[in-house]
Amino acid sequence: MTDTNPLVIFTPSGKRGRFPAGTPVLTAARKLGVDLDSVCGGRGICSRCQVTPAFGEFPKHGVSVARDALSGWNAVEARYDEKRGLPEGRRLGCQATIQSDVVIDVPPESQVHRQVVRKAATGRVIEMDPATHRYLVDVAEPDMHDPSGDLQRLREALRASWGIEGVEVPLRVLATLQPALRQGKWQVTVTVHRPHDGPPRLLDIRPGFVDTPLLGLAIDLGSTTIAGHLCDLTSGEVLASAGLMNPQIRFGEDLMSRVSYAMMNPGGAAEMAAAVRVALNGLASEIATEAGVDPTEIVEAVIVCNPVMHHLVLGLDPVELGQAPFALSTSESLSLAADELGLTSLHPQARTYLLPCIAGHVGADAAAVALSEEPDKQDALTLVIDVGTNAEILLGNRDRVLACSSPTGPAFEGAQISSGQRAAPGAIERIEIDPATKEPRFRVIGSDLWSDDPGFAAATAVTGVTGICGSGIIEAVAEMRMAGLLDASGLIGSAEQTGTSRCEPEGRTHAYLVHDGTSDGGPRITVTQGDIRAIQLAKSALYAGARLLMDEMGVDSVDRIVLAGAFGAHISPKHAMVLGMIPDAPLAAVTSAGNAAGTGARIALLNRAARGRIEQVVRQITKVETAIEPRFQEHFVAANALPHATAPFPELRRVVTLPEVAFNAGGGDGGGRRRRRRA
Ligand code: FES
Repeated sequence: MTDTNPLVIFTPSGKRGRFPAGTPVLTAARKLGVDLDSVCGGRGICSRCQVTPAFGEFPKHGVSVARDALSGWNAVEARYDEKRGLPEGRRLGCQATIQSDVVIDVPPESQVHRQVVRKAATGRVIEMDPATHRYLVDVAEPDMHDPSGDLQRLREALRASWGIEGVEVPLRVLATLQPALRQGKWQVTVTVHRPHDGPPRLLDIRPGFVDTPLLGLAIDLGSTTIAGHLCDLTSGEVLASAGLMNPQIRFGEDLMSRVSYAMMNPGGAAEMAAAVRVALNGLASEIATEAGVDPTEIVEAVIVCNPVMHHLVLGLDPVELGQAPFALSTSESLSLAADELGLTSLHPQARTYLLPCIAGHVGADAAAVALSEEPDKQDALTLVIDVGTNAEILLGNRDRVLACSSPTGPAFEGAQISSGQRAAPGAIERIEIDPATKEPRFRVIGSDLWSDDPGFAAATAVTGVTGICGSGIIEAVAEMRMAGLLDASGLIGSAEQTGTSRCEPEGRTHAYLVHDGTSDGGPRITVTQGDIRAIQLAKSALYAGARLLMDEMGVDSVDRIVLAGAFGAHISPKHAMVLGMIPDAPLAAVTSAGNAAGTGARIALLNRAARGRIEQVVRQITKVETAIEPRFQEHFVAANALPHATAPFPELRRVVTLPEVAFNAGGGDGGGRRRRRRA
């Protein structure tokens, strides 16, 4: 017998089925496994179930849809429309019932597992599957003849309405249950955290229907800077981003000096933990204020960081990380209560997730980069370099992935640079130097105009021109090399040697004047010989790390290079290659990924399956320890020249001509380049 019930076709999934006339759209969607959201369980309160019916002829689907294929507006929809407004053509899926054959579109915002584009350039997406959700539940009232606790009846309601079983209830949440149930007249909204690897947990219970935003914070906790993205856990949208300097800098600029501080000072680790926790709370409050929300709505945080920061934020002593064999307290991911980490400005029951570490020097930030850039899913041999105070370097493809970290120091983040600053409005982020006139022009964060464009002064009147950020210093040094102001050994020429008065004496060396703002009370921004040396040390460490992984893989070239960095603007591949930060490759094979570790943190925040995935990937990554590898030192020394002492860089020379200049007049700053080691 053929089924004569109305045919329902959902788009974009294409799922279809026949249902008796009068079936609510939400019920049909659930039976077919269509991804249609609901927080209120079909009570017409939450509006998450919005759908758009389509009418007319659909030869593709073999149906003709009449105008009255769905029931007319009911009182619930009318009331909702009056109070909050329903967009034109939309219906509430839990209220509209099927009357005859119909095609129903589920818009992205009504899909639980909607996809969020994470990078416009690549169009890659994050599928929404956050660990924390809200649910509206009706709890049975107590009955003297059938005695049971309020919690038992709440559990039963959660099981019956939402299929959630075995929920754990912290004592502090239990304490709020009875008043909430009575105040809500036995209807409450609960926030439930369902991790990928453990039982569900009740985070809060509120009377009635609550629709305040459910927020998460993705944190990239670097040695020098801390960056945070506040995300809506329902839409996946980034509501605000903020960054600040890591206050632990006062205990030591690089990681090993912080480990030494912990070794030398009793209570030092705890002191550093306290400092970073204060900063994280400050970041949460600042970012929430910027988004116009309450920080206590933040129910989850994901933290990615290097192993030393990992131990320091957890309050673990990092001493073992300062000496071979660099043993971690734990390399596994951690799911913790946020208040155990002192993150008291968040929701009182907020959860935190720390990605797993790969090894003693290769941390959760490298894991986050792997999650974001997925070298393990590539056919092409891909080199991913995440530039920071400690660089994370991954090399691999589907067959094998290697990882190391390299102690670049904070120069690429604008620290230890005379005019350096973090990426913030007013910082020079792009720079060009005319090879003929040796005159610079630049752009600052906060304006799209170049400094020689009309209107630049007015556009930057508020921020001023305050310094140079990481991507700016990379471009500045590379441009100086291309303009013949800097020789291959890294020496800045004098005014006589270069033909520009912008190369001014500074002690026994020279500096290049980028911008003189003193007439307006601003700074004089120069690139000094000391800055060049700091960049040379940093870039040599990066190159040596990459080269070490290539040795290990047995290759002399790679198919793709992905440059990532936490310091704001994207790094220019051409400039990075002129510096010799990265191995020679066709420029088209080099892409810039922005803050890959931060993106990895965001993916782990929004998709709990990604947490399980990265935990598995990390177990398969082969880690290479730079600190004990003699070839690292050899690669480091050869990489000191710009771009390199011995590697010919043929691809680079195809697109850029580097002037053959030499400024070593027999003295000055030619020798004594000692690199800083972490350990
Ligand atoms: S499911 Fe909540 S309004 Fe329809």
